[in-house]
Order: sequence, then C-alpha cells, then structure tokens
Amino acid sequence: MLRGPIWFAAGFAVMLSAGWLVFPRALYQKSSQPIQFSHRTHAEKAGMKCEDCHSLRADGAFTGIPQVDKCAGCHAAPVGSTADEKLLVDRYVTPNREIPWKVYARQPDNAWFPHAYHVKLAKLACEQCHGGHGKTDSLRAYESNRVSGYSRDFWGASLQPATARTGLKMSQCEHCHDEKGVVTGCIDCHK
Ligand code: HEC
Ligand code: HEC
Ligand code: HEC
Ligand code: HEC
Ligand code: HEC
Repeated sequence: MLRGPIWFAAGFAVMLSAGWLVFPRALYQKSSQPIQFSHRTHAEKAGMKCEDCHSLRADGAFTGIPQVDKCAGCHAAPVGSTADEKLLVDRYVTPNREIPWKVYARQPDNAWFPHAYHVKLAKLACEQCHGGHGKTDSLRAYESNRVSGYSRDFWGASLQPATARTGLKMSQCEHCHDEKGVVTGCIDCHK
C-alpha cells in the first residue's frame, strides 16, 4: 500500500537534488589560471600600488592586466623559490610570451565598459565592482557557463540582488546609473 508514495518521495528527492545541486555545478566548466599570482605578495613584498600595474593612459583607455614585459622588470631571473615563479620565468618571461590570463570580469564583446568614467570621473573604488580581488593571495578557478561561454562572475545562476556590491551584471550597471542619475540607453553600453 505504502510503496507508491515512498517511491514517489524517493524519486522526488532525487530530482530535487539534481535540480539544486547537480545541475548548477554541471552548468559551469572550471579551469585553472596559467600560473598563480598573488596580489598580496606584490603589495607587501614589492610595495606596489594598483596604478603600477593597472592604469589609465593619457587618452583614457584602461591598460587592463599588465603585459609580460612589466613582470620581466623584476622576474628576468627568479627572485624567490616558488614553483609558480619558476614557471613564470621559464614559460613566459624568457621566451617573451604573453600569459593567457582568464579574466573573471570580462564582458561579452557586444558590451562596452569604460573604466575612465567610473574610476576617474565617478571616483568609484575598484572594490565596488571587483570585490577584494586586489588583496587576494591566490587565484580561484575560472568558471564559464557551458551554454553562453560567459564568466560566472556576471553570468551566474545566482540570487544576488541588484543592490549587491558587485557591478558586473547589466541589472547592476543600470541600478547604479539610475541611483546616480546617469542616463544610458542600449547603445551607450552595447556596440
Ligand atoms: C604586479 C602587478 C600588479 C599589481 C601591483 C596589481 N595587480 Fe591586479 N592584476 C595583475 C595581474 C597579473 C592580473 C591577472 C591575474 C589575476 O586575475 O589576478 C591582475 C588582475 C586584476 C583584476 C582583474 C580580475 C578579473 O579577472 O576580473 C583586478 C580587479 C585587479 N587586478 C585589481 C587590482 C587592485 C585593486 C590592485 C591594487 C590593490 C592591483 N590589482 C594591483 C597585476 C597586478
Ligand atoms: C617591482 C618588482 C616586481 C614586479 C614588477 C613583479 N613582481 Fe612578481 N614578485 C616580486 C617579489 C618581490 C616577489 C616575492 C618573491 C619571494 O619572496 O618569493 C614576487 C613573486 C612572484 C611570484 C611567486 C609567487 C608569489 O606570489 O610569491 C609570481 C608567480 C609573480 N611574482 C608573478 C609576477 C607577474 C605575473 C608579474 C607581472 C604582471 C610580476 N610578478 C611583477 C616582485 C615583482
Ligand atoms: C563600475 C565597475 C568597475 C569599477 C569601479 C572598476 N572596474 Fe575593472 N572592470 C569592470 C568591468 C565591467 C570589467 C570588464 C570589462 C570588459 O570586459 O570590457 C573590468 C575589467 C577589469 C580588468 C581586466 C581587464 C581585461 O579585460 O583585461 C582589470 C585588470 C580591472 N578591471 C581592474 C580594475 C581596477 C584596478 C579598478 C580600480 C582602479 C577597477 N577595475 C574599477 C568594472 C569595474
Ligand atoms: C556603482 C555605480 C556604477 C556601476 C556599478 C556602473 N556604473 Fe557606469 N557610470 C557610473 C557613473 C556615476 C557614470 C557617470 C560618470 C561621469 O560622467 O561623471 C557612469 C558612466 C557610464 C558610461 C558613460 C555614459 C556616457 O555618458 O556616455 C557608460 C558607457 C557606463 N557607465 C557603462 C557601465 C556598464 C556597462 C556598467 C556595468 C558593467 C556600469 N557602467 C556600472 C556609475 C556606475
Ligand atoms: C548601463 C549599461 C547597459 C545598458 C544601458 C544596457 N545594457 Fe545590455 N548588457 C550590459 C552588460 C554589461 C551586459 C553583459 C552582462 C550581463 O549579461 O549581465 C549586457 C548584456 C545584454 C544582453 C545579453 C548579451 C549576450 O551577448 O548574450 C542583451 C541581449 C542586452 N544586454 C540587451 C540590452 C538592451 C536591448 C538594452 C536597452 C533596452 C540594454 N541591453 C541596455 C550593459 C547594458
């Protein structure tokens, strides 16, 4: 008599856990960064500031992640004894090859984000949109959505509200613009 309901409950529990636990995990493909990089080490041991590596050029364009020649200034030969630094020197600095970083914040090609407006004119802190990345000691796995190919940092099945600290999602960009009275239409952000 009870068999039916028990099987139903068991099946229901399996499907529920597939939906909540397995599917969100299966939806993202994890990959690791080419080498580990510690922002904290460079602030503490090399005394470097954000602008030493990420700055705005005179024409307002953002330099983004520094190229390998920047690293070569200090890492032409290893200064420490870590395996990641050896990899940096042997695989990238010596042959002068760029490091293929996976950028957590990288937007779709059709979206346009100018750092100059936000950092220089609006005087927003990096943390507003990037959280504590500038203080991290190691790099987490990069996760991309298997369907869209976009980074989980803005293309995630998350319940994060638009008011959260990050500003990488379209809804979050628009939320802040509304709050500050910045008028942007589709073509201001999409090219
Ligand atoms: C020695 C050069 C150097 C300095 C100094 C430096 N960075 Fe970086 N930054 C990098 C490199 C290399 C990467 C690419 C690897 C990574 O993601 O961390 C990066 C990536 C980033 C990213 C992009 C994350 C992503 O993929 O979306 C942010 C945000 C960032 N840095 C913020 C900061 C802030 C804030 C500071 C100052 C507190 C800072 N950085 C100082 C070299 C530097
Ligand atoms: C101004 C000098 C300077 C520059 C420029 C610099 N580094 Fe370093 N880096 C250091 C110092 C100092 C250490 C600490 C070495 C130690 O004691 O192990 C370090 C350590 C490292 C390590 C070893 C792992 C760790 O975090 O301890 C890696 C990997 C590394 N740096 C990558 C980079 C990359 C990539 C760039 C270019 C974007 C870069 N560094 C630019 C000074 C520099
Ligand atoms: C209002 C939000 C916002 C603020 C403030 C902000 N960023 Fe970004 N950042 C972004 C977005 C969005 C992207 C992705 C841009 C793209 O893909 O075209 C990005 C990309 C980056 C990248 C990767 C560039 C690349 O594609 O190679 C670095 C490095 C970075 N930011 C550093 C910083 C630093 C350092 C600061 C503070 C001086 C800062 N950002 C302030 C939103 C922001
Ligand atoms: C926390 C607040 C905040 C967030 C988040 C934010 N912005 Fe902005 N944005 C501003 C402010 C303030 C300005 C106006 C700066 C000025 O002109 O003084 C601006 C200006 C702009 C402009 C220039 C508009 C013009 O006048 O043509 C573009 C484009 C833009 N933002 C795109 C984006 C995109 C894309 C995102 C999300 C990835 C984003 N913004 C996230 C605050 C924000
Ligand atoms: C303030 C900037 C901003 C404005 C205004 C804006 N968008 Fe977006 N939009 C973005 C950003 C950033 C992304 C990528 C991040 C995301 O998907 O949340 C995006 C993503 C999208 C996507 C998905 C893109 C893809 O490649 O899959 C579509 C479609 C889109 N927007 C349409 C629109 C339309 C239509 C309008 C006007 C009604 C509009 N957007 C206005 C910033 C903006």
